[in-house]
Amino acid sequence: MERVPYLDLQAQYNGIRTEVLAALEEICESGKFAQGPATSGFEVKFAAYCGVDHCVSLHSGTSALHLALRCLDVGPGDEVVTVSMTFIATAWAISYVGATPVFVDIDPVRRTLNVDNLEAAITSRTKAIIPVHLYGMPAEMDRIMAIAERHGVPVVEDAAQAHGARYRGRRVGQFGQIACFSFYPSKNLGAYGEGGALITNDASIARRARSLRDHAQSQKYLHDEIGYNYRMDSFQGAVLSIKLKHLDEWNTARIDCARQYTELLKESSYTLPAHMSDSECVWHCYVIETPERDRVRSALQDVGIQSAVHYPVPIHLQKAYADLDYRSGDLPVTEALCEHCLSLPIYPELSKEKMSRVASVLLDLENR
Ligand SMILES: Cc1ncc(COP(=O)(O)O)c(C=O)c1O
Repeated sequence: MERVPYLDLQAQYNGIRTEVLAALEEICESGKFAQGPATSGFEVKFAAYCGVDHCVSLHSGTSALHLALRCLDVGPGDEVVTVSMTFIATAWAISYVGATPVFVDIDPVRRTLNVDNLEAAITSRTKAIIPVHLYGMPAEMDRIMAIAERHGVPVVEDAAQAHGARYRGRRVGQFGQIACFSFYPSKNLGAYGEGGALITNDASIARRARSLRDHAQSQKYLHDEIGYNYRMDSFQGAVLSIKLKHLDEWNTARIDCARQYTELLKESSYTLPAHMSDSECVWHCYVIETPERDRVRSALQDVGIQSAVHYPVPIHLQKAYADLDYRSGDLPVTEALCEHCLSLPIYPELSKEKMSRVASVLLDLENR
């Protein structure tokens, strides 16, 4: 029985091994382990790839979101509108600055912030909006930006799952005042450790983020405000520069995988993810929905097929946010997706044979 892993980082490593090891060796020889040419070189390349002026390399996607809100001076008493259907870090950043997250439901098809609900969530205390390009699908940025601009509220794109995705022909990260990326190893562009970045066209935001990530030093050992150690290490910068050259090709392979799954499963009763004509989704996850999620997942597991659940409990119902007083039923589309979602194996090297096997097991399960 051939195992199908959820993700196969080893397969990707095999293709870049020589180049990666040489780059790491060079860093060891140079002794520049932090904030050296490897991180600044990556910043220039990633900004150019995203089509923006500035990239600030950081330690994680979570630190990117945190610094984004610090750079916008969001603080206690403020509200930030976002989705509950995301990884918890989106909300952590809001809490780290002492602000309150305000969650809006998602669109059932796109699975990103439902723009029809956005305006009603904005109050005089709203200091930022964080749409999330969930599973690699861009949120509806034109409509979000129009509403945000009308209310004078800045937008921070959480692009942690969507490196290289396009909305109406433009790469994500070009729409909001700031966009945040994670380079966690499993991401479409993943480091060999932790990593993140913030991108922006605003030079003053980039300057402030560079200062905050390095203990807010204006000169060595002189600190202008409360800062952090959120620097990216050189190894990660080097690995990311090498991997960035392959990102488009890897994303194209993911798009092919998604098309194939959709073709194989189109007659099934599973709810399949939408392919939106206004966007190029980069398929960080291929998420089907079934009311029998747990049964299907364990049956896949029994025959050696790994899957994942992104995410089992929405943020508004997490214990950590009990004091916000949300109730079950407040965000019905989010809650239904959390109950029914199942992420199928997807990665650029996933073979057609493996996908056919996943699909045939899924089709078989329908008839049991
Ligand atoms: C949507 C989203 N936001 C933020 C993050 C946080 O990134 P990191 O794990 O690099 O801190 C992630 C990572 O999983 C994510 O998926």
